[in-house]
Formats: sequence, C-alpha cells, structure tokens
Amino acid sequence: MRIFLLIGVATAGVLAVAASFAPISASAPAQDTAGTAAQDPANPYHLPPTHFGSENPQAVHAFVDAPGFADAPLARNPQAPDAKPVGQQVCTACHSRESDTFAHTTHALGMQVAFTANPDTPTCEACHGPGSVHAQAPEQPGAIIAFTHDGGTPVETQAGACMGCHAGGPRDHWLGSIHQRNQLSCSDCHNPMAQFSAEGLQAQDSINQTCATCHKDIRQQFNRRSHMPLPEGQMACVDCHNPHGTINTALLKTDTVNETCYQCHAEKRGPFLFEHAPVRENCLNCHTPHGSNQHALLVAPVPMLCQQCHSHTRHPNDMFNEQMLANGMAPDERLMGRGCLTCHSQIHGSNNPAGPRFHK
Ligand code: HEC
Ligand code: HEC
Ligand code: HEC
Ligand code: HEC
Ligand code: HEC
Ligand code: HEC
Ligand code: HEC
Ligand code: HEC
Ligand code: HEC
Ligand code: HEC
Repeated sequence: MRIFLLIGVATAGVLAVAASFAPISASAPAQDTAGTAAQDPANPYHLPPTHFGSENPQAVHAFVDAPGFADAPLARNPQAPDAKPVGQQVCTACHSRESDTFAHTTHALGMQVAFTANPDTPTCEACHGPGSVHAQAPEQPGAIIAFTHDGGTPVETQAGACMGCHAGGPRDHWLGSIHQRNQLSCSDCHNPMAQFSAEGLQAQDSINQTCATCHKDIRQQFNRRSHMPLPEGQMACVDCHNPHGTINTALLKTDTVNETCYQCHAEKRGPFLFEHAPVRENCLNCHTPHGSNQHALLVAPVPMLCQQCHSHTRHPNDMFNEQMLANGMAPDERLMGRGCLTCHSQIHGSNNPAGPRFHK
C-alpha cells in the first residue's frame, strides 16, 4: 500500500541522516520538508519531523516541531533542586557503554551537532536533568532523572523531561489520557538510549511488539482466522490509535469508529441511494476490529448476524435446524451459499435504483 511505502521512505531518510554525523550541517536543512524550521537561521539544525503511521501528518496533527538540542531546555528535577549541569563529557566518563549504544539514535544526531557547536549545551542532561549531585553520589535515588518505575523518579517528572521538547501535536491530549492516568511513562513505549526499532525509538523492535508487551490479548486476536494484515507487518496499532491520547473513546485517532474505517475502506463511506442503517451507525454493529473466527471479521455468522435485528421479515423467519442445510430434508436458501447475502449482496448500501433491499 502507498501509505506504508511513504512511511518507509520517511524513516529511511531519518536513519540515513542519523547514521552519518559529518555532513549533517549541510544536509539536515535540505532534508527538512516541513519548511518552517529549515528557514530559521537562529536554529539551523532542526531535524526532519517524524510522524509515522499517517500519510500527511501535518494535516492530521497540527504538527509542532521539537526544538533541537542547540536550544534544549535543561530537564527539571524537583528531587535535586541544587544540582548544576556538568556536561556530557562527565556523564560519558562513567557511562561509556550507554553512550556507545545511544550514538545510533535520532537524539544523538542532534546532540552531536549541538555539542560540537557548544560543549556546554545540555545533552544527556536535557533528558536526565542536571547531574552534579548524581556525579558525586551515584547511588542516591532521585538525584538523576531515571526513566524506570523503580529508579526513584516520579512518572510526572519523567514525562516532563520529554515534554519539554515534545509537547503539543500528537501529544496534545497526553494529560488525562488513559495511559497517563494509568501511570505509564514515555519510557514504557520508548527507549531513546538505543535503536531497538527501525522507527519511533520504540522499546521493542516494532510498534506492534511494544503495544503487545501489555495488550497481549488484543495482539492475539489478530491471530484469528480473519484479521487485517497487522501480523503480516502491513499495519500497526497506530493506524487506528494514538497511544499518546485523544479526545475520543479507545484512543481512536478519528472522531468516530466509522471515520477510522473509511480512511482505508473509502468505498464504504457512500453516500448510497439506499443506506443500510446499521452500517451508517457503526461498522462494529457487525464487525470486530482486531480479529474474528468468523468470515470477514464478522461478530456472528450469517444468517444469525442478520437475525439479531431482522426477526420480522416477510421471509419465513423460523429458527434454522440441520434439516434446512443444503443436504437436509428441507434445504433453505437462507442457509445455502452465502446465506442472506446470496440475495442481499450489497449489504453496505446500494446505488442501484432497484436496490432498496440491497439485492443489487
Ligand atoms: C503506549 C505507548 C506510548 C507511550 C506511553 C508514549 N509513546 Fe510516543 N510513540 C508511541 C508510538 C507507537 C509512536 C509511533 C507513532 C506513529 O507512528 O504514529 C510514538 C511516537 C512518538 C514520537 C515521534 C512521532 C511523533 O508523534 O511526534 C515522539 C516524539 C513521542 N512518541 C514522544 C513521546 C513522549 C514525550 C511520551 C511521554 C509523554 C510518549 N511518546 C509516550 C508510543 C508511545
Ligand atoms: C562518577 C561516575 C558517574 C558519573 C559522573 C555519572 N554517573 Fe550516572 N550512574 C553511575 C553509577 C555507578 C550508577 C548506578 C547507580 C545504581 O545502580 O544505583 C549510575 C546510574 C545512572 C542512571 C540510572 C539511574 C537509575 O536508577 O535507573 C542514569 C540515568 C545515569 N546514571 C545518568 C547519568 C548522567 C546523565 C550523568 C551526567 C550528568 C551521569 N549519570 C554521571 C555513575 C556515574
Ligand atoms: C532523549 C532523552 C535522553 C537522552 C538525551 C539521554 N537519555 Fe539516558 N535514558 C533515557 C531514557 C528514557 C532511559 C530509560 C531507558 C529504559 O527504558 O531502560 C535512559 C536510561 C539511561 C541510563 C540507565 C541505563 C540504561 O541504559 O537503561 C543511563 C546510564 C543513561 N540513560 C545515561 C545517559 C547518558 C550518559 C546520556 C548522554 C550521552 C543520555 N543518557 C542521554 C533518556 C535519555
Ligand atoms: C532537547 C529536546 C528533546 C528532548 C528533551 C527529548 N527529545 Fe525526542 N526528539 C528531539 C528532536 C529534535 C527529535 C527529532 C525531530 C523530531 O522528530 O521532531 C526527537 C525525536 C524523537 C522521537 C522520534 C524518533 C525517531 O527515530 O525519529 C521520539 C520517539 C522521541 N524523540 C522521544 C523522546 C522521549 C521519549 C524523550 C524523553 C525521554 C525525548 N524524546 C526527549 C528532541 C528532544
Ligand atoms: C506498559 C503497558 C502498556 C503499553 C506498553 C501499552 N498500553 Fe495501552 N493501556 C495500558 C493500560 C494499563 C490501559 C488501561 C486500560 C486497561 O486496563 O486495559 C491501556 C489502555 C489502552 C486502550 C484503551 C483505551 C480505552 O479508552 O479503553 C488502547 C486503545 C490502548 N491502550 C492502546 C495501546 C497501543 C496502541 C499501544 C502501543 C502503542 C499501547 N496501548 C501500549 C497499558 C499499556
Ligand atoms: C483497524 C483499526 C484498529 C487497529 C489496527 C487496532 N485497533 Fe484497537 N480498536 C479499534 C477500534 C475501532 C476500537 C474500539 C472498540 C469499541 O469502540 O468498542 C479498538 C479498541 C481497542 C482497545 C480497547 C477496547 C478493547 O477491545 O479492549 C484496546 C486496548 C486496543 N484497541 C488496542 C489495540 C492494539 C494493542 C492494537 C495493535 C495490536 C490495536 N488495538 C489495533 C481499532 C483498531
Ligand atoms: C490502515 C488501513 C485500514 C484501516 C484504518 C481499516 N482497515 Fe480494514 N483492512 C485493511 C486491509 C489492508 C485489509 C486487507 C484487504 C485485503 O486483504 O484485500 C482490510 C480488511 C478488512 C476486512 C475484510 C477482512 C477479511 O477477512 O476478509 C474487513 C471486514 C475490514 N477490513 C473492516 C474494517 C473496519 C470495520 C475498520 C474500522 C474499525 C477497518 N477495517 C479499518 C486496512 C484497513
Ligand atoms: C449489517 C452488518 C454490517 C455492517 C454494519 C458493516 N458490514 Fe462490512 N460486511 C458485512 C458482511 C455480512 C460482510 C461479508 C460480505 C461477503 O461475504 O461478501 C462484510 C464485509 C466487509 C468487508 C470485506 C468485503 C468487502 O466488501 O470489501 C469490508 C472491508 C467491510 N465489510 C467493511 C465495513 C465497514 C468499513 C463498515 C462500516 C462503514 C462495515 N463493513 C459495516 C456486514 C456489515
Ligand atoms: C444491528 C442491526 C442490524 C443488523 C445486524 C442487520 N440489519 Fe438490516 N437493517 C437494519 C435496520 C435498522 C434497517 C432499516 C429498516 C427500516 O428502514 O425499516 C435494515 C434494513 C435492511 C434491509 C432493507 C429492508 C427494508 O425494509 O428496506 C435489508 C434487505 C436488510 N436490512 C438485510 C440485512 C441482512 C441480510 C443482514 C445480515 C447480513 C442485516 N440486514 C443485518 C438493522 C440491521
Ligand atoms: C433467495 C433470495 C433471498 C434470501 C436468501 C434472503 N432474502 Fe431477504 N428478501 C429477498 C427478496 C426478493 C426480498 C424483497 C421482498 C419484497 O420486496 O417484497 C427480500 C426482503 C427482505 C427484507 C425486507 C422486507 C421485509 O420483510 O421487511 C429483509 C429485512 C430481508 N429480506 C432480510 C433477509 C435476511 C435476514 C435473510 C437471511 C436470513 C434473507 N433476507 C435471505 C430475497 C432473499
């Protein structure tokens, strides 16, 4: 699909830049297709924006570019109010292993550029907060911002460190979102210290794996007989959900369930001359999004699906039994072939003048 190709290209661009530090000052502004940042002479090192999972992120998210490390704010750590910044070289003296794995990430690219221009720029400390107290007493909990649940740093402080640069855009509704209320930290899904995933600095090797660390049940539904091609790597949970929070139920990216589905199944949007009411109301009247053991992601097999609502049709509407199967005593066409759909084939709506019963 085109959408996935575009993501691939965008990601490859970011990684290609990240892989080579040397020519960055020349190539970074040229890579920046967002437009605004590249033209800002006071801040020439803005990195290209990364918004995976949507074809036109600017339109979807009212995109806000993260400030580069050249003008990075020092992360605030209320647990070490007197600490002063010490600079990256002090940190890497003790943390050379972390510093090595970190060197392959998007952030390290920005840091490298900023550090070369001015060695006093907060780099490690842009996320971890001022480090003088920690450098003297590394065992003291809370003296450095730790992004783990048992590191002694409250989750709000952790998120605050990241939000210093990443507030707004897709994270407009982080505060109050179901993940925030359940005490998730940014680092439950992101590990910026190493390049574990091709895109998005995920904590696992892909977005879907990251979600599956907690939502195993949902991931398993995608293993059912009928599913959209997520296990095949062609879709991600974030095609439909924004894990950072939305104003809708179930973290959906769009206002309604149907709008989510229309993004890819545009032909179901209509308008139709003859609408089928439950389709217009909610696709989930008949479908389940994550996987089904029925055909076509249906919540129940036809004809039972239809009979949940249509009990008083002009058809005989008796209960079906085995004698009514194709090889029984009294074969019934509503159980043969595609059941009700043999005749009512245009179940999502019809544009045919003779289609009020969805026959054509
Ligand atoms: C529940 C998992 C989860 C949590 C928690 C989470 N993220 Fe993300 N984040 C993701 C995923 C998945 C993507 C990829 C999104 C996409 O492709 O649309 C992403 C993308 C991003 C991106 C890059 C693209 C963009 O949207 O700008 C940034 C920056 C980011 N997250 C920052 C944060 C910050 C800051 C926090 C904490 C306040 C946070 N994330 C918390 C899962 C999470
Ligand atoms: C004198 C050596 C030293 C210096 C300098 C130093 N650290 Fe540490 N750091 C340590 C040690 C030792 C630990 C492990 C502490 C422990 O296990 O409780 C540690 C732990 C950490 C942790 C993990 C905390 C946790 O509980 O998960 C982070 C994050 C960290 N350091 C970041 C930094 C940063 C950023 C700097 C620079 C501002 C820095 N360190 C400077 C020695 C140092
Ligand atoms: C973009 C923000 C960010 C920057 C910049 C950053 N870190 Fe981290 N660091 C994190 C997060 C988030 C974690 C927690 C990773 C996890 O989930 O294990 C972490 C973890 C660590 C740890 C704990 C051990 C580990 O690997 O999990 C150390 C030590 C550390 N960082 C040192 C550094 C040093 C040194 C620098 C500068 C070279 C640095 N960090 C730059 C965000 C950052
Ligand atoms: C000093 C500013 C700054 C801080 C603090 C910061 N980031 Fe970033 N981050 C950036 C910049 C700049 C980029 C690249 C440009 C962009 O995507 O907007 C970036 C990119 C990212 C991306 C996209 C990754 C990719 O490979 O393209 C993720 C995810 C992310 N940051 C997560 C985090 C998390 C989680 C934290 C906190 C632990 C954090 N950032 C803290 C500046 C920052
Ligand atoms: C660290 C664990 C964790 C991770 C990782 C995680 N989630 Fe969640 N998620 C939760 C918790 C806790 C809830 C609260 C509801 C519950 O108990 O299931 C939740 C709820 C949700 C909901 C339901 C929202 C609602 O209003 O009912 C959605 C949708 C969701 N997560 C999507 C995702 C996606 C997509 C990812 C991957 C980008 C992800 N989650 C990663 C822990 C996690
Ligand atoms: C094709 C779109 C789509 C994809 C892809 C998708 N979801 Fe959902 N998801 C939905 C819709 C629609 C709902 C709302 C269900 C409702 O309103 O009852 C939902 C609901 C949820 C819920 C809350 C309700 C529940 O069923 O427990 C969670 C948690 C969730 N999704 C997680 C995930 C995770 C994790 C992934 C990736 C493995 C994922 N979703 C992939 C569309 C999607
Ligand atoms: C990001 C794109 C995307 C979104 C959003 C999306 N779908 Fe799909 N859907 C697909 C793809 C791709 C297929 C597989 C098509 C194929 O194999 O020809 C598919 C297949 C299906 C099928 C047929 C499954 C089968 O087994 O034959 C149904 C039913 C379906 N989607 C319903 C929905 C519903 C309902 C929603 C909204 C909750 C939705 N889709 C949202 C991409 C999407
Ligand atoms: C009244 C029940 C019902 C509702 C509501 C419904 N569908 Fe369906 N859908 C079906 C049935 C039954 C099939 C199987 C058709 C077949 O076997 O030919 C199906 C098949 C599909 C398919 C796969 C075959 C195809 O036609 O492409 C997609 C995709 C799909 N539906 C999307 C949607 C979307 C999107 C919505 C919401 C706008 C929706 N459906 C609402 C009953 C429904
Ligand atoms: C969630 C309830 C629901 C489900 C499930 C459902 N329908 Fe409907 N259907 C309706 C409603 C409501 C109408 C509109 C009735 C009206 O306008 O009087 C309708 C209208 C129709 C009509 C046109 C009838 C008329 O009087 O204009 C046909 C034919 C039909 N449905 C067939 C089906 C078939 C076949 C299935 C199973 C694949 C199905 N429906 C599943 C609720 C449902
Ligand atoms: C052999 C073809 C055929 C099959 C199979 C079939 N129908 Fe019909 N159905 C029709 C025809 C023809 C009409 C139009 C009758 C009329 O307009 O007077 C109709 C009309 C309807 C109507 C609208 C009229 C009414 O009675 O209110 C509904 C609802 C309906 N069918 C539902 C179903 C359901 C549910 C099934 C499966 C259990 C089903 N049909 C199976 C041919 C079929």
